[in-house]
Amino acid sequence: MEIRQALATACSALGLERLDAQLLLLHALGRPQHDRAWLVAHDSDTLDPDTELRYRELTRMRAAGTPLAYLTGVREFYGLQLQVDARVLDPRPDTETLVDWALSLLPPPLGQGRGGGRHSSLIDVGTGSGAIALALKHARPDAQVSAVDVSADALAVASANAQRLGLEVRFQQGNWLEGVSERFDFIVSNPPYIAEGDPHLEKLGHEPRLALTSGPDGLDAIRAIIQQAPSRLSPGGWLLLEHGWDQAEAVRALLTRAGYTDVQSRQDLAGVERCSGGRWLLTP
Ligand SMILES: C[S@@+](CC[C@H](N)C(=O)[O-])C[C@H]1O[C@@H](n2cnc3c(N)ncnc32)[C@H](O)[C@@H]1O
Repeated sequence: MEIRQALATACSALGLERLDAQLLLLHALGRPQHDRAWLVAHDSDTLDPDTELRYRELTRMRAAGTPLAYLTGVREFYGLQLQVDARVLDPRPDTETLVDWALSLLPPPLGQGRGGGRHSSLIDVGTGSGAIALALKHARPDAQVSAVDVSADALAVASANAQRLGLEVRFQQGNWLEGVSERFDFIVSNPPYIAEGDPHLEKLGHEPRLALTSGPDGLDAIRAIIQQAPSRLSPGGWLLLEHGWDQAEAVRALLTRAGYTDVQSRQDLAGVERCSGGRWLLTP
């Protein structure tokens, strides 16, 4: 089968988007994901039978809902190439809003405007593939970055990403912040926040349930982190949380009621409030 025909079949018969069909074909051919121009230039080449078989299987799985990143094994996040598979959530572009927010609040590195003191410290709670922690460490190598997840599988993926990217992040296993004894200037988290029983879960069946749902209203993890964070924040430290498109008001109310100040939200690129956070001024 020619390349042109293989792509057309994946789109028309299986309903795949053209970009997905092209990226999967590059993967089946063992070519880099940025090589789409090669496909166009070689659209009358004939696929060898092994590649054609591999491509059929990949497109069938994509049509059945497997995330593209699980099939190609890579996801770009904040300019980093992360390796991902079914042990972790496929990182979403929305989460870059949380990274942007944390970076905008971080004081400049020592020696660049801030007198004396120490390096800023951050912890990513529920790190999954390590996306947030690694993006922060890459953007701010001077910061001390830690990450926690309850899932040993997720930590294996995150540590492998850190090692491959040469980024020093301290990983630990634990239930939210329970086993964390130090204090941090920033606690950031994209916790699970989908309500159990939400009809959207049907489409997300390929990703770990632990990464998706959190109690009847989706807010159990956020409540736990808001409650645990004060004793792990330096005075004046920030807690920044990603949440669902309709949860900003509820999360701001939880933060305010718990005693945080400067409570506010941030919008994603679509103008939807997708992150909320606040500062903790007192030392409990
Ligand atoms: C929505 S995913 C976020 C993954 C990653 N931070 C990202 O943005 O792509 C939530 C993560 O929280 C982790 N998690 C779930 N329950 C947890 C708990 N009780 N303590 C720590 N981490 C937990 C899951 O394993 C998952 O990796």
